[in-house]
Amino acid sequence: MVVDASKEDLLIGVCGAGAMGRGIVQVASVGGVRVKVFDINKEQLEEAFKFIDNMLGRAVEKGRMQQEARQDAVSRIELVGAISDLSDCEIVIEAATENLEIKKKIFAEIEDVVSDNTIIATNTSSLSVTTIASACKRPERIAGFHFFNPVPLMKLVEVIDGVLTEPCVGDQLMTLGSRMTREPVRLKDAPGFLVNQVGRGYNVETQHLQAECVGEFVDFDRILRDGAGFRMGPFELMDLTGLDVTHPASELIYRQFFDEPRYRPSPVMQSRMEAGILGRKTNRGYYVYENGKKLEPETKALPKYDGGPVWISKAEPDGHAALSDVANSCGAKIVTGDTPPDGALILVTPVGQEVTQTVVDQGLDATRTLGVDYLVGLGTHRTVVSNPATSIEYRDRALGLLNNDGVGATAIRDCPAFVCQRVLATICNIGCQIAQLGTAEPEDIDKAVVLGLNYPSGPLSFGETLGPKNVLKILEGLYTSYGDPRYRPSPWLRRRAMLGLSLFDKEI
Ligand SMILES: NC(=O)c1ccc[n+]([C@@H]2O[C@H](COP(=O)([O-])OP(=O)(O)OC[C@H]3O[C@@H](n4cnc5c(N)ncnc54)[C@H](O)[C@@H]3O)[C@@H](O)[C@H]2O)c1
Repeated sequence: MVVDASKEDLLIGVCGAGAMGRGIVQVASVGGVRVKVFDINKEQLEEAFKFIDNMLGRAVEKGRMQQEARQDAVSRIELVGAISDLSDCEIVIEAATENLEIKKKIFAEIEDVVSDNTIIATNTSSLSVTTIASACKRPERIAGFHFFNPVPLMKLVEVIDGVLTEPCVGDQLMTLGSRMTREPVRLKDAPGFLVNQVGRGYNVETQHLQAECVGEFVDFDRILRDGAGFRMGPFELMDLTGLDVTHPASELIYRQFFDEPRYRPSPVMQSRMEAGILGRKTNRGYYVYENGKKLEPETKALPKYDGGPVWISKAEPDGHAALSDVANSCGAKIVTGDTPPDGALILVTPVGQEVTQTVVDQGLDATRTLGVDYLVGLGTHRTVVSNPATSIEYRDRALGLLNNDGVGATAIRDCPAFVCQRVLATICNIGCQIAQLGTAEPEDIDKAVVLGLNYPSGPLSFGETLGPKNVLKILEGLYTSYGDPRYRPSPWLRRRAMLGLSLFDKEI
């Protein structure tokens, strides 16, 4: 029998009062839960208390909290000088240094002093909950309780069941998470849990694109931020997090999945990390920073549309319709007919395919042909894709035309599935595989990703918007072009796409 986390006088313990521990203490106390806090470093413990008091003081100043509520919250926090002082806690959350040996030692010490009914949870972000539990006397009461940084601002908490965790333990952590004013999401133990797994689809995939010299990092940031609606571009994000954090986390997830190609990082990330260009913290990452401010790389003015004729391929009817509308509203001199007349710019809208293959399949003049990525919509920043034979004159006509209404356009070099199709399909595929492995429920996958990563949509919703059949086509195109199992579609996606089902549909 474990504790009832909904009981009013619940007492919890937090072990470790660093960046995460103090945030966890803050949201617990504000949520009405009494908390005892221990840290091996006494100064850190006192600093954590001052930090929380100060944060709540600012909330009062800004009118987001009443002074009385602040005092009540602070009065619920008790700093303690030894792990044994946590003996009467009904749930203990470990948020100490990310090191397996340290954590095993802490868990053994906690188990020695608490009652048999006490739940012990870890806030680890990269270690297996099951591995930590395996060193414990009662692994069935150990679970993951994974908060995000900064805790008071990030609503999500992942509740992770290890292989031996009793279901009632996770149930109680779900209750406690809600009491702490978080949005708990339940999942099974897996490398990177849920959110950190999906995050690889964004930054690692784009780093692979850059490594292939498809474009500059700033191009990808612009396309994904301004074109696909992400709050930050992947390279801006890697600079903010620090490559010394992002790359080891990526490598660890890849290795923990026994070298699963879907998670394979780019060797370029390793080299850049070793070179010490880590991001904001070193004033240089992908961008350069001065006094903490990002210096925007110079952007070349886009060419003007020269008024020349434009022919749009009808091979992809949806792409033809969408691009014809935009080209018309940009004032294009559109020419029709079954084949492109001499001198016309040729635009194609392949899904999952590179421009070169499209040129060959449709028997087009490669020097005049460019691809346009229409699938995520053409209302915002547009991507124009050359092939190795495209002449500058036609590339500039395409760029000028697609920016004639001021929406913005970026030219990249040939690659299958371009940028938005490829990155969104990769994220969707990882989400589908998480569903296939039963790590979390489909709705929870999307909820966790939107809350934990601030993406404009969850992985399965991205797939629904693009259309599961299109996502399958994109991944098959990537797989055909590269022959890399990294792009093999998850069975969850393939079966639902083939049967015309939603990616949220579960099997009986
Ligand atoms: N920082 C993040 O973005 C983030 C996000 C999610 C999860 N996490 C996880 O949260 C945990 C803590 O991370 P953090 O960023 O707060 O680290 P941190 O370095 O800021 O704090 C760790 C704290 O643990 C204390 N500590 C070390 N050994 C201890 C012991 N034996 N007993 C008690 N306290 C001890 C340290 O004194 C320190 O105050 C890690 O497991 C980390 O993976 C971190």
